[in-house]
Order: sequence, then structure tokens, then C-alpha cells
Amino acid sequence: MKFLITAGPTREPIDPVRYISNRSSGKMGYAIAQAALDAGHEVVLISGPVALPAPPRAQMVRVTTADEMYDAVHANLVGIDIAVLCAAVADFKPAAFSPHKIKKKLGAPIIEWVPTRDILASLGALPEKYFRLVGFAAETEDLEKNAREKLKKKQCDVVIANDVSAPGLGFESDENELTIYLPYQSGIVLPRASKGDLAKALVKILSAMQ
Ligand code: CTP
Repeated sequence: MKFLITAGPTREPIDPVRYISNRSSGKMGYAIAQAALDAGHEVVLISGPVALPAPPRAQMVRVTTADEMYDAVHANLVGIDIAVLCAAVADFKPAAFSPHKIKKKLGAPIIEWVPTRDILASLGALPEKYFRLVGFAAETEDLEKNAREKLKKKQCDVVIANDVSAPGLGFESDENELTIYLPYQSGIVLPRASKGDLAKALVKILSAMQ
């Protein structure tokens, strides 16, 4: 099978020296890429800026902004069997990029924000979807309700939820706890484990879903 995986954060530039981003380390997405490769699958890994080595044998596409990630995903859909969108894409970007460094003597700047394009929703809305679509939901409350809403709203086949408010789990951590939601089925809990072990279990479940 061929996996397309997005991982890591995006960076939305404000001026030549500043950007807005988030705490995603990319570890979960890279672990899924490695587990898919280890299971003999082909992997296109579309990655935001992270401090992780490229998994050997992955076809790497490196991007910085949400717009670049959107374009890279849409340019790499041919032949994929499953898209796993694990990246923490910025939901908003500055309406304008200041080509000059914003100087503090001008006072605290007011930055206008505009939404980025939702990559997951754009794939869910494709008229002919010949691949499985898997989204992630990083939540701090109402995990199941929010995950199931995402399943519907973004037209995914699967949403994998994790509680990012739990201490020592999720963002930047080496461990996670995941619940897999499919429409009309109760959630499948993958209890706390290393991201590598969770990725192995996930790849097994996802590749059996054909
Ligand atoms: N995602 C995406 N493109 C975006 C934003 C999110 O592809 N511009 C994907 C993420 O990769 C992940 C899922 O959507 O698979 C996460 O959605 P999230 O950002 O949590 O959800 P939102 O619907 O933006 O909602 P909320 O802020 O309400 O949680």
C-alpha cells in the first residue's frame, strides 16, 4: 500500500524574523511513517519544520507554511491508498506578510489573521475519493464528541483522537494514548504507549481497513 502522511507543525510568517507556529514535534507522524515503511508499505511524508531525521526510504516533501502543505498534499495524491493527516496545521495566518522587520518603536502591532485552507476537509470533499482518509483530533475536552464531529464535518473515514491536556502525553512527548473513531462503531482505545508502538498498532489497523 502507499501511505501519504503529513507531520509536524506549519509556520506562518509575520515578518522576515517572526512566525506563528505550535508545539507539534512531528514525532507521531514520523513514527507512523516509520511503522508503515517497516511493514513494507510505500510512504510519502509531507513534513513541516521538525528536528527529526527523515525515515530512510520515505519519499520526503519538506514544507514550511500551511499553503505549501496544502499544495504538496494535493500534488502527491496519485496512487495513494491512504492519507493520514497528522500535521498540526496552523488554522490562521497573518493576512499580510511585512517585508520589513516590524520595529518595536512603532508599538505593539495589531496583526490581522485569516484562516488557512483546511487540507483534511479539502480531501474529504473530493468528488472521487479512491483512498482512505484519516484525520487527527488533538483535544483538551469532550474527546469523543469533538472527534465524531470532525469525522462528519471533514468527511473522514477515521479520526484518531488524543487528549493533549493529559500530562506527559501528546505534544512533544514520546508517549501518547489514542482512540480510533470510525462512523457507527465504538471507539477503539490504544492505551498509553510509546509513539513507536502506537504507530505500529495503528498501521496494522489502518492497513486492514481496505
Ligand atoms: N488539518 C488540516 N488542515 C488545516 C487544519 C487541520 O489538514 N488547515 C487537519 C489536521 O492535520 C488534523 C485535523 O485536521 O488531521 C485536526 O483538525 P483541528 O485543527 O483539530 O480541527 P479544527 O476543525 O480546526 O478544529 P478545532 O480548532 O475546533 O479543534
